[in-house]
Amino acid sequence: MPVPLHTTGKASFDDIYHRPDPREYYARMRELNYRIPELAKPFFQQQIKELRAAGVEHPTVLDIGCSYGVNAALLRFDTTMSELADHYGDSADADRHTLVARDQARLADCEGLPGVRLVGMDVSHDAVSYAHAAGLLHDIVHADLEAAEPTEAQRRTLASVDLVISTGCIGYVTEKTLGRLVAANPDRRPWMAHFVLRMFGFDDIAAQLAELGYRTVRAPGLFEQRRFASDAERTQVLNTLAANGIDATGCETDGWLYANLYLSRPIDDHEAEQ
Ligand SMILES: C[S@@+](CC[C@H](N)C(=O)[O-])C[C@H]1O[C@@H](n2cnc3c(N)ncnc32)[C@H](O)[C@@H]1O
Repeated sequence: MPVPLHTTGKASFDDIYHRPDPREYYARMRELNYRIPELAKPFFQQQIKELRAAGVEHPTVLDIGCSYGVNAALLRFDTTMSELADHYGDSADADRHTLVARDQARLADCEGLPGVRLVGMDVSHDAVSYAHAAGLLHDIVHADLEAAEPTEAQRRTLASVDLVISTGCIGYVTEKTLGRLVAANPDRRPWMAHFVLRMFGFDDIAAQLAELGYRTVRAPGLFEQRRFASDAERTQVLNTLAANGIDATGCETDGWLYANLYLSRPIDDHEAEQ
């Protein structure tokens, strides 16, 4: 069956975002060589290190569009996407309860990110509730801030955040969500690190964040996100890049979607030298 496309031209994987456990997610992502969370991991670790250097010893990190706690699993199991695909792929006969218990036991054995509280936000209740039950995420926000303001309980959770991270989420999520995140606590604006597909760009979000007192820089480098899911996706994405004046030669033309890393920090944050 052909992979459906979103109106953006990117392939849609909505079916695997809403399963009771992560098995199909990792199996499908392995087929596509989805690797952006793994490439992002050392940059997120670096942001946490810099937060600590700035005096936030026990930071709270919010992963938006966290799905089944993918970035949390990479950081807390200190592992790779390939190993996670093996981990979930070797249990075809297991039920959700068994997978949850296995993840809990693994976390009890190893903690690759001590002293950090990880919160995940996603529109998929199945995905966030798996990650929470498994212990990958300490807290979750099941919300769509594109569509509505957070509830008071959600706002309180979001107000505790020191660093917002994302992989594969900008595009689904816009300046609307990030504006609502920042508004959750006017006295404590979080740093941000977002990996963003080149076809989406970050200009509108950076402009909104600038109005809220942030400075955004694009980090050097281009990061492979995944292989194209179909020829139709390739064609649409190349058309979008061309229309946006982005030269895809030697990058997307070779069969991969590419992302940039954008780092945003409050301008008045004295530790924000980037
Ligand atoms: C491509 S997946 C990325 C998952 C994970 N971050 C990763 O890199 O493996 C995109 C995720 O964004 C979520 N999402 C879509 N719209 C959203 C919204 N408005 N707010 C929060 N999450 C959203 C989807 O449910 C899905 O889990």
